[in-house]
Amino acid sequence: MSTLLEQIDALTSESLAEASALADVEALDVYRLKYLGRKEGLLSRILMSLPRLTGDEKREVGKRANALKVAIESAVARRRQVLDDVRINAELSQSKIDLTLPGTPVVRGGLHPLTRVMEEITDVFIRLGFSVAEGPEVETDDNNFTSLNHPPDHPARDSHDTFYLKEFTDGAGRPLLLRTHTSPVQIRYMRTHTPPVYIVAPGRVFRHENVDATHSYVFHQVEGLAVDTDISVADLKGVLTLFAERLFGGQGTVVKTRFRPSFFPFVEPGLEMDISCTLCGQKGCRVCKGTGWVEMLGSGLVHPNVLRAAGCDPEKYSGWAFGIGVERVAMFKYGVDDMRLFYENDIRFLENFA
Ligand code: DAH
Repeated sequence: MSTLLEQIDALTSESLAEASALADVEALDVYRLKYLGRKEGLLSRILMSLPRLTGDEKREVGKRANALKVAIESAVARRRQVLDDVRINAELSQSKIDLTLPGTPVVRGGLHPLTRVMEEITDVFIRLGFSVAEGPEVETDDNNFTSLNHPPDHPARDSHDTFYLKEFTDGAGRPLLLRTHTSPVQIRYMRTHTPPVYIVAPGRVFRHENVDATHSYVFHQVEGLAVDTDISVADLKGVLTLFAERLFGGQGTVVKTRFRPSFFPFVEPGLEMDISCTLCGQKGCRVCKGTGWVEMLGSGLVHPNVLRAAGCDPEKYSGWAFGIGVERVAMFKYGVDDMRLFYENDIRFLENFA
């Protein structure tokens, strides 16, 4: 028994000394097998004479053998860690990574300025309790004109420079068209909903105009419509003034509004709203053409003919409506003097809004 214990002690010091000299991971595996291998391992061989011992002796030898096993396992683990560190450090010094170099830039996109402004406008009205409605870009003559109080021979039709889709007609054989304004959404909505109606309708509109710094074939509008009992011009003015303040005011900028009489066939009276030029503080500049005021939108009380055409009783209900030009608002808000910039998708221009 004493010889067995001595053998184990000898094996302990021998094995631990050997561990710290192992040069690589393969040597570690060989080493482990050499001492702890199930059949051929040195420890297993010593333990082969275990059955000849008495119970107490067996317990003592078993304990020592176990301690040796644990010691070898942890020597292997420690050595593995050292070898790993050496290998990683060698790799790092080889690969010469320059951690001070800037990384690959991540380019972040942003909303198009027109989308952004359209959402901002819509948002102001959503907060006031309006819902968002939409209509198609291909419209009937009836929704775009007739129901909006432009009878077939009405001269105001001419001012719209309409794109007609000659091959496609509505039920009455009239050619379909690209809507020239978002106002037809008023008709569509009133026909399918009973008042109270409070909606805004953002969207694209089309006109066959000469393209220049302030005109485009395609542009955007946000239509508004409120139909209810007891509706007045005072509500309209109040809501639109609040809109102007929310969109252009704040941070010390005071926005004033003024309303001028105007004509649109689908409203009576018709009003145009100007806002005070916040770019020059009304001193007079290029944008306001020296007047201190900028034209912002058209509006008015919904004409009884329009209510009737859309199935609303004008004796019972009244309404007001407005149409905002999104490009006009965006140009004013961002001080852009050529509308074409919004459509050219020049990244250098768009980046300013990201
Ligand atoms: N639809 C008109 C246009 O495109 C704008 C407009 C004016 C809309 C007055 C309205 C309104 O709802 O009441 O020129």
